[in-house]
Amino acid sequence: MPHHPALARLSSGSARLAAAFGLLLLASLLVLHLRPAKPLVGTSDGRRHPDPAALFLSLSPGANTTIAADLRALTAGPHLAGTPASAGPAAHVLARFRAAGLQTLTRDYRPLLSYPAGASLALLRADGSLLARLSTDEPADAGRRFVRPYHAYAPSGGAVAEAVFVNLGREEDYLALERLGVGVRGRVAVAVRGGGYRGGVVARAAERGAVAVLIAGHADGGVERGTVLLGGPGDPLTPGWAVTAGAERLGLDNVSVKRRFPTIPSMPISFKTAVAIVRSLAGPDIPAELKSGLGVDNGRVGPGPALVNFTYQEDKKLATIRNVFAVIKGYEEPDRYVILGNHRDAWTYGAVDPNSGTAALLNIAQRLGIMLQSGWTPRRTIILCSWDAEEFGMIGSTEWVEENLADLHSKAVAYLNVDCAVQGVGLFAGSTPQLDKLLVDVTRQVKDPDVMGKMVHDTWKEMNGGINIAVVCYIYYSISKDSLNLQIERLARTDSDFAAFLHHAGIPCVDLYYGEEFPGYHTALDSFNWMERHGDPLFLRHLAITEIWGLLALRLADDPVLPFDYQTYASQIQEHTNAITVVMNNSRLVNLMNECISDLSRAAMEILKEAKLCRTLFVSSLVITSLAFVYLSQLYSPPEDYESKLSFFPGIADAISQPGNLTIDERQVVLKHEVWKISRAIQRAASVLSGEFSQQKESPESSVVVAP
Ligand SMILES: *[C@@H]1O[C@H](CO)[C@@H](O)[C@H](O)[C@H]1NC(C)=O
Ligand SMILES: *[C@@H]1O[C@H](CO)[C@@H](O)[C@H](O)[C@H]1NC(C)=O
Ligand SMILES: *[C@@H]1O[C@H](CO)[C@@H](O)[C@H](O)[C@H]1NC(C)=O
Repeated sequence: MPHHPALARLSSGSARLAAAFGLLLLASLLVLHLRPAKPLVGTSDGRRHPDPAALFLSLSPGANTTIAADLRALTAGPHLAGTPASAGPAAHVLARFRAAGLQTLTRDYRPLLSYPAGASLALLRADGSLLARLSTDEPADAGRRFVRPYHAYAPSGGAVAEAVFVNLGREEDYLALERLGVGVRGRVAVAVRGGGYRGGVVARAAERGAVAVLIAGHADGGVERGTVLLGGPGDPLTPGWAVTAGAERLGLDNVSVKRRFPTIPSMPISFKTAVAIVRSLAGPDIPAELKSGLGVDNGRVGPGPALVNFTYQEDKKLATIRNVFAVIKGYEEPDRYVILGNHRDAWTYGAVDPNSGTAALLNIAQRLGIMLQSGWTPRRTIILCSWDAEEFGMIGSTEWVEENLADLHSKAVAYLNVDCAVQGVGLFAGSTPQLDKLLVDVTRQVKDPDVMGKMVHDTWKEMNGGINIAVVCYIYYSISKDSLNLQIERLARTDSDFAAFLHHAGIPCVDLYYGEEFPGYHTALDSFNWMERHGDPLFLRHLAITEIWGLLALRLADDPVLPFDYQTYASQIQEHTNAITVVMNNSRLVNLMNECISDLSRAAMEILKEAKLCRTLFVSSLVITSLAFVYLSQLYSPPEDYESKLSFFPGIADAISQPGNLTIDERQVVLKHEVWKISRAIQRAASVLSGEFSQQKESPESSVVVAP
């Protein structure tokens, strides 16, 4: 995974305002209080345990030791996707699924992957003579068993050019450089990690004419590998369909394919190498606002006078990847799927990213196997997925979703993702809003791994209380009266395997992890040794994630009425809508939005009313709620602009952040169209939920916006 830009995005003053607004609104909505849904379990046919959650939790003793042993086995060596070394962990997962007594499946694909064939880096004097050779390796890489540090899909190429220090390589860094009269055209941009998605950092430098980009890792970390592919997730040659045997592959010269690849070579370097380059630079002093990245005293931004000589050779090729599955067929609703997924491929050893999650998944498999033997069978089908090639762009999961799209559309209840299960302390969770309440409920049942006598819910709440709620509220959503401070992230990201499930198939999703960041991200430091010493010495955080993940799955698989809460959804939409009116900062548009709000609320209340009706009628509400969600999921799809600060209403986010050369009036037309689109999505969802044909009184003409 994925580093997680959501918190970093939260800074603007308008966000604070919007958040304060949202909080006020929320307080008033809380009056509507969320009634806890009582889990309904137990039927008369004797195939169900009266309390599957209790049975699952009774299997906790010693589970941390099993998890540790699996993690050790999975991380015995580096196992990058598509390389021979990746076969070991795939076989391990398959063997453990089988040992648990579960039915297993595998699915292989041959997507286009990208590996490094060679690289060199040196500093030359202005006359071209050699000043110093610089290391392209990772300091911890003594054994040389790793794939060298590289950016997947960076093209072959090179440069002999002056360097410019661009700090984090964000838009604002280039603006600061412009004020100093320094540009990157024809030069090598030297950045430090932290400027958002690395593919975006490279693209921004390329847009400004840079000929190559070098990105430095953490000062105390290694060299951060990663993909620089742009566009959506999945195999770049089969956008929208699966790369099955004999499938059509677009050519590399196809314009839409070409757009996904970076146009200039790039490479990750160590912090030390970056410092060596920056120390060779002349030009203006690094201004205060650009010091965040390197922290070098008396540094200069360049350009030159020394030249960087950088070469990189890419080996781009089709390679075989393998997804591994375990399936537990439901006895009453076998054609409803509760799907749990984690990727298995890693840049190096992958102890955090992703095999902490793999070890948790294997423990869930083991427990479900024992539960099956004791006579329990889930009501709905549970599928455990071990994905490959996530690191190249969520390829294993995306190809599988594409291959099974129609089936998943109509049958998947939810997708529960865990990527880096444990990278530090504290629960961080994301979900689509109808799952918020279930997520919160479940954390009340799981012991906190770090504080004796407390539940995860207690510490989660306390931790969230310590940070700036007003700001966080803008993207995150706080839920329920007694846990006002809980933040649940909205999954507008596309940086882990939920991407295709949520943004392509429109399936409700959850994403869980312990700890927010760790210094060894995508480096050779991400080893079992680090996990044992620093990440989770007693493997109790692994245990907590395993239990939250497992209990979520059991509730979704066993509750007779799906534990979806559309009331939460309705209030969330209302909150976003209020946030938007503040952010737009344009009185005419604010008026327009305000006219829409009442309609949005009405549609949302309709959803709520009908969802309640479903409960009372005791019908399986999956079909209608999932159809409704297909419309609602659009509200969280990722905006095109990877710098956007909005994590919801993507069309509006793009209209605000990419005004191009539109006049104010033209922009209003675009925004207005987006507002209409959102209203339509919500109205469609509402009418799906109500199960009624539209009637005259509900038609948009009579109830919605009057043009300003
Ligand atoms: C590129 O692929 C797209 C499909 O994604 C297709 O519509 C288009 O015609 C192709 N262009 C060329 C030049 O082959
Ligand atoms: C730059 O480095 C490459 C690879 O080491 C080398 O072949 C080339 O001659 C160098 N260029 C200059 C100008 O030194
Ligand atoms: C598992 O947790 C127990 C405490 O509950 C601890 O004594 C044991 O060492 C842990 N196992 C591992 C492998 O860390």
